[in-house]
Amino acid sequence: MTIQLTGVSKTFGDFTAVHPLDLTIPEGSFFALLGASGCGKTTTLRMIAGLEDPSAGHILLDGTDITALPPHRRPVNTVFQNYALFPHLDVHDNVAFGLRRRGMKQVKNQVAEMLELVELGHLARRRPHQLSGGQQQRVALARALVNKPQVLLLDEPLGALDLKLRRQMQLELKRIQTEVGITFVHVTHDQEEAMAMADTVAVMRAGRVEQLGAPAELYEHPRTAFVANFLGTSNLVEAEVTAAGGGEAEVKAAGSPLRLPSARMPEGTGAGDGVLVGVRPEKISLTPADDAGGVPAGRNRLTGRITEASYLGVSVQYLVETPACPGFAVYEQNVERDPRLVAGAEVVLHWNPAHTFGLQPGRDPGREIAAGTGEEAL
Ligand SMILES: Nc1ncnc2c1ncn2[C@@H]1O[C@H](COP(=O)(O)OP(=O)(O)OP(=O)(O)O)[C@@H](O)[C@H]1O
Ligand SMILES: [Mg+2]
Repeated sequence: MTIQLTGVSKTFGDFTAVHPLDLTIPEGSFFALLGASGCGKTTTLRMIAGLEDPSAGHILLDGTDITALPPHRRPVNTVFQNYALFPHLDVHDNVAFGLRRRGMKQVKNQVAEMLELVELGHLARRRPHQLSGGQQQRVALARALVNKPQVLLLDEPLGALDLKLRRQMQLELKRIQTEVGITFVHVTHDQEEAMAMADTVAVMRAGRVEQLGAPAELYEHPRTAFVANFLGTSNLVEAEVTAAGGGEAEVKAAGSPLRLPSARMPEGTGAGDGVLVGVRPEKISLTPADDAGGVPAGRNRLTGRITEASYLGVSVQYLVETPACPGFAVYEQNVERDPRLVAGAEVVLHWNPAHTFGLQPGRDPGREIAAGTGEEAL
């Protein structure tokens, strides 16, 4: 079912948890609400479930206004973070619970089908305390899906699991969603989780959706510093536009000229304007200063000095001090490491201008650069 929110807001006293929100979640999509703690994700989800009354606005399912419907009359089920299973019931009876409560007598086949879907058929007679965290999570999922909801709401359902199990369950959830084909709305503050599972991600900040789109779209084309920083890592530097118009724009950051596609400049920016210029750490290559002559022409380049090199196995993460930015992050895949790239080394950072993006600097560019990094002053 298609979920539609029109002007939906929620205030608690004089505090606005969700500002008027317009949102369309298409049928069959895996939709993620992503944002930091307290930004209004759960409140939004609870309004869709009917557990919270909107202060204004309407919620529609396939065009029908359900704003006034109580939770149990909505074709919607929720899996909460603390998915409390019934401890005295075994796996089968936990899953059968919803069906039996609705007076259904023949539940065996439906329950078996659900347990098959979550690959727990062989554990049907176990009690919750005899299951691992991931298995309990899958029981909670089966318990919600057995009611054949048109929409499944998931509020941080993987929060209690360790990292490896989380990754495994993310793939599992995605598989199940594809198989049952219903609309999933998934709430998380984990950007990797949102990107791995969802076809559309809405990045929320302080009760508003800041940007919405496919994961790759958000990552490659962030429209605000908050999104650029919250989704992965971005190097953002203040710059002044020196030439605009044509296919490519030129800016100057701490004296260094940098180029970027005009299409990636914020709208309405012209020569003389301030801009924030961004590039992702994995797009940048490092060359020791001694070899600077070998850097291909046409690449954006900055000079700097490595202040930190962290060996992470799959990659090495560098921090490089440049005149434009005190801590430029650079990720290099751990393939052929140049032994000269250590802390203290003078280097050239260079990257394809096409991988550079421009953002509005706002009134306080320094504050904007920190937005969404977790280190901003709140
Ligand atoms: N019943 C309530 N009364 C007053 N304030 C509330 C109530 N419920 C939520 N809030 C506030 O609304 C804001 C949004 O809360 P919400 O639970 O939606 O956040 P969230 O994005 O789900 O965060 P988290 O990731 O920590 O779960 C918070 O500042 C919270 O304190
Ligand atoms: Mg929450």
